[in-house]
Amino acid sequence: MHRSTASRSALKAEAQSIIDAASRDFERGTITASDWQRRVSAALATAYLGDDDPRWQSGFDGDVELWRQARELVLDAVSAPGSFLDVGCANGYLLECLDIWSRERGLTLTLSGLELNPELADAARRRLPALSQGIYSGNISDWEPPHRFMYVRMGLEYAPPGQDAALLSRVLSDVVQTGGRLIVGPVPFTALSATHDAFIRANVSESHDVSATDRDGKTRYVVWARADAYLASRKRGRTNAYDGQPSD
Ligand SMILES: C[S@@+](CC[C@H](N)C(=O)[O-])C[C@H]1O[C@@H](n2cnc3c(N)ncnc32)[C@H](O)[C@@H]1O
Repeated sequence: MHRSTASRSALKAEAQSIIDAASRDFERGTITASDWQRRVSAALATAYLGDDDPRWQSGFDGDVELWRQARELVLDAVSAPGSFLDVGCANGYLLECLDIWSRERGLTLTLSGLELNPELADAARRRLPALSQGIYSGNISDWEPPHRFMYVRMGLEYAPPGQDAALLSRVLSDVVQTGGRLIVGPVPFTALSATHDAFIRANVSESHDVSATDRDGKTRYVVWARADAYLASRKRGRTNAYDGQPSD
């Protein structure tokens, strides 16, 4: 069922009020980070699965042209063929589209997804039977990947308040392969400086932006960094901490 604009607004408001309550509880210390993540993801899943539009089920309220203008820029951070993990893949629609858009660019990507909410992960497996083996259920904060990925896309909103830099470090250390890239976004201009700031707090020495403007004039940004830039700055940090002697 496709809902009316008013009905979608009600679904968004309900999800937002659950997310706000979870954030208050987290800040008071009455729930853990993983409780917060589960509550946020469950609130999103209830909203997404309340409408069968594939873009809505991926958290986007707009037509197919706007969707492409809002999401294809992820591929501007991808320079060569390789494995690609969409963290928070929801119903798998972004993976489905990236498959088409990357082929149009002559890029061969081996696509996988990770989703915290089990119903959404199941929806993604049903949507993408050919990729179902590579649709994983888990929380990016503690998931043990079966292998590392050349490209990992994620959102900083998957971390509870104040933990975005820690999540970046964890993914760069444990999920992105050597020579690979961590891709964050798309984000609106209003979130760009906070995104850069999180990379800096995660000790990523160099990050890069790509952007695209949609037909309504809205510009979105993707910020990406090389895993090597992170590992090099971490090594330099350790060198300072150990009297000039590298620890590895
Ligand atoms: C807005 S959707 C993103 C859909 C699609 N990847 C895109 O970018 O268009 C965000 C998804 O991330 C999932 N998610 C949130 N926190 C997560 C976490 N800690 N680990 C894995 N998935 C998470 C949510 O359940 C939700 O389905």
